[in-house]
Amino acid sequence: MEKNPQNFKIILAVESSCDETSVAIVTSEQKILSNIVASQIKSHQRFGGVVPEVASRHHVEQIISCFDEAMKQAGVTMDQIDAVAVTYGPGLVGALLIGITAAKTFAWAHNLPLIPVNHMAGHIAAANFVTELHYPLLALLVSGGHTELVYMKTPGSYEIIGQTRDDAAGEAYDKIGRVLGVSYPSGKIIDEMAHHGNDTFHFPRAMLKEDNFDFSFSGLKSSFINTVHNAQQKEITLDANDLAASFQASVIEVLVTKTLRCVKELGVKQLVVAGGVAANRGLKETFTKIIAQEQLDLQLIVPPVALCGDNAAMIGSAAFIEAKENHFAAGNLNAKPGLSFPEQQEIEV
Ligand code: KG4
Ligand code: ZN
Repeated sequence: MEKNPQNFKIILAVESSCDETSVAIVTSEQKILSNIVASQIKSHQRFGGVVPEVASRHHVEQIISCFDEAMKQAGVTMDQIDAVAVTYGPGLVGALLIGITAAKTFAWAHNLPLIPVNHMAGHIAAANFVTELHYPLLALLVSGGHTELVYMKTPGSYEIIGQTRDDAAGEAYDKIGRVLGVSYPSGKIIDEMAHHGNDTFHFPRAMLKEDNFDFSFSGLKSSFINTVHNAQQKEITLDANDLAASFQASVIEVLVTKTLRCVKELGVKQLVVAGGVAANRGLKETFTKIIAQEQLDLQLIVPPVALCGDNAAMIGSAAFIEAKENHFAAGNLNAKPGLSFPEQQEIEV
């Protein structure tokens, strides 16, 4: 007899949208029984970014051992698993298809339901491992491919109310990292460098004062690159830590100011910051400082660093919400590389 999705206790989740192959087993009490992440970063580093074909090949090589290891570490038997969840977008089509095919096969072989999960919903759901979420809430999603303010009125409902018009925040970190000679992905190292430098260059703060919740990082990136190239032509050496600190100061000021403006307008009491860039120390410190300074009635929730980057545990957590809504996939589930949340029409609060 099929189990009631409201009572699912254990979900096996699969994530393969970009350059991490991951399989996790999580419980409805938000306990992570296992979360195996096989990173391919070393293979992409020499190209300065993720090469889709290389990513797909690595996923094929890694996925079976990730399943095995996740089952072994979790110490659960097959009959304890209630459902299989998988990221079906957004991401690289070839990479997504490996995870989807593996998840479908596993679900079919063990007669389990299949839950399709939006990768970005997964990033937000990582906050469930920190504390209980109360709705409505606002999420700032900052990753290598996305920079979005997402309003969640209820669990499982997502409305984009602001987003980048060009580069994502993480993408900007990775692009200026190349100019600084930092290996891909550069966010973590630039964050460290920034802590040893000062904002001496005062790069532009794009769209800071505009009356919307959108972002833009390509002007900042160009300004950074021009500054470095001009100095190189004049054979002047600039302080790399000051450059990193100046870049980071601009990114953080725009993200924090516009997000907190949005928090006030919506009157939400919880702010989730999620995605790879949420691991940024300066970003978390600045949010914490300003929330305290302004005495805002706001709980800041940032997942631990290991759960900010891509991993399957967050997909498992989001899957419990989808299961409760009866969102299941059929055997013909396909990858949706451009999957997005609906854009906000009009918010009723
Ligand atoms: O969410 P994620 O792991 O993959 C995507 O779904 O895109 O995010 C990866 C991005 C990369 O651009 C990386 O440079 C950035 O997150 N990142 C950081 C930090 N750690 C990772 N950016 C700024 N500061 C960090 N500490
Ligand atoms: Zn991601």
